[in-house]
Amino acid sequence: MKNEAQWERHAAWWQRNYSQGADPEYEDHILPLVAHHAAGARRVLDIGCGEGQVARQLAASGARVVGLDPTAAQITAASGRAGGPRYLRGRAEALPCGDATFDTVVLCAALEHVEDFEGALQEVARVLEPGGRFVLVLAHPFLQTPGAGWVDDRVLNQRYWRIGAYLEEERAFHEVAPGVDLLFVHRPLSRYVRAMGRAGLLIDDMDETPPPPRLTAAHWDFPEAATIPRVLLVRAIRAS
Ligand SMILES: C[S@@+](CC[C@H](N)C(=O)[O-])C[C@H]1O[C@@H](n2cnc3c(N)ncnc32)[C@H](O)[C@@H]1O
Repeated sequence: MKNEAQWERHAAWWQRNYSQGADPEYEDHILPLVAHHAAGARRVLDIGCGEGQVARQLAASGARVVGLDPTAAQITAASGRAGGPRYLRGRAEALPCGDATFDTVVLCAALEHVEDFEGALQEVARVLEPGGRFVLVLAHPFLQTPGAGWVDDRVLNQRYWRIGAYLEEERAFHEVAPGVDLLFVHRPLSRYVRAMGRAGLLIDDMDETPPPPRLTAAHWDFPEAATIPRVLLVRAIRAS
């Protein structure tokens, strides 16, 4: 599958640019948000764990954590970085875990890369114990659509956010850096919410906070940048 081959090829690029303090969005925003919503977790599965930064953070707070990712180069880096979690190779769509094994499942910045996201959500519900928590972090599906971005309108003298083709689902490889193309699947927010409901994952909290100042200062140094979230966190409880 091209998606998996591309992750294998570009894992080192991801690790260099997005882990171990390299990315202000992870450091100042995503990792603290996940820590907040997963507080008190005891048995955690981190699906699409990459090089393990979320898994390590949860292990440091006292949880027993299993990190799972299909990409061998991510699992090798994660194991090398140690810090407590145990790692497995596997896909979100077919979790190699027993029913009701975890009290918390985290899926951070990975479901956008999974084609059968409905199957993945069914699997999340299967491995969660009743009453268990699911913490899902996505590029905000409503605002970070293909074609979205700031428009600097010199005629109206306004800066505004163009949303793009929100209702059109898109499966495409995007060149996110020179020579680095990865699969992203855009889906409207309702598809995620409906699939979670069908899986018995009932939303109980949500966060869509502004991007961190260190990030906006580096890329969009104007006040409007703080009004458009980049990340959506949805928390759900597995119905009994
Ligand atoms: C953007 S990285 C995020 C890594 C980690 N969750 C984090 O936030 O640091 C996306 C990860 O999703 C993984 N991935 C791709 N397809 C997947 C699938 N079908 N099931 C689970 N993970 C997948 C990739 O290998 C990659 O490590």
